[in-house]
Amino acid sequence: PFYVNVKEVNSKILSIAHRGASGYAPENTFAAFDKAIEMDVDYLELDVQMTKDNHLVIIHDPKVNRTTNGKGFVKDLTLSQIKSLDAGSWFGEEFRGERIPTFKEILNVYGDKVGLLVELKNPSLYPGIEKKVSDAINNYSLFSEQNPSIKVQSFDLSSLRSLKKHLPLIDVGLLINRMINYRKLLKVEKDIDFINMQKRYITRHIVLQAHQLNLKIYAWTVNELRDLTYLLHLGIDGAIVDYPEIIFKLQKIY
Ligand code: G3P
Ligand code: CA
Repeated sequence: PFYVNVKEVNSKILSIAHRGASGYAPENTFAAFDKAIEMDVDYLELDVQMTKDNHLVIIHDPKVNRTTNGKGFVKDLTLSQIKSLDAGSWFGEEFRGERIPTFKEILNVYGDKVGLLVELKNPSLYPGIEKKVSDAINNYSLFSEQNPSIKVQSFDLSSLRSLKKHLPLIDVGLLINRMINYRKLLKVEKDIDFINMQKRYITRHIVLQAHQLNLKIYAWTVNELRDLTYLLHLGIDGAIVDYPEIIFKLQKIY
């Protein structure tokens, strides 16, 4: 183990619950989001996709198979079919009856309680999803363009560019799951406000370069205290976690 004075290195990072507190409750459900809020996180991370009848719903995979008792692609099911699925019992009997939330429900239930890190998931499957997400955010009554508590991220840069056209003042971030060099960062920095990298690719170098370009840098998915300590030492600005208590454990230790 190495010594690092985390307080000196970075006194505050964003705690972001990955698909809710998905270590404790079925991902992307009210149970997981409620648990994350109970654990006092700064942001909920959630994945948005679209039903056959153009409703925005919160689910990670393109198919419902892994996380519900149903089968098939999200894009081939209507909202009422999606809402009839049990999204909880795959994780534990006590969660039977959990439903897949809509994006509207998420905004209404959590929008004034906690930050939302909204991932446009598989956006190429859903032409027009950026406008739908923007409209939902705009229509959310408590939302004002100065509100800093909603951020949007995606692996798909063109989708982020499109979203930013609709919502110019919102922070958008590129998800990255490979090594990235400064040249590549320079190509994208004008279109984004943060990068969110798979933790194994984060180096001191890339953190410095991101900061030089005024980009925040987050890490996913951080579930080991040792990894979190190391990443803090590198200077990250936020961590996406399945078990939010890891961040508070660290704050207690240091
Ligand atoms: O926030 C980062 C993370 O959510 C990206 O990966 O597969 O969990 O959506 P994934
Ligand atoms: Ca995600």
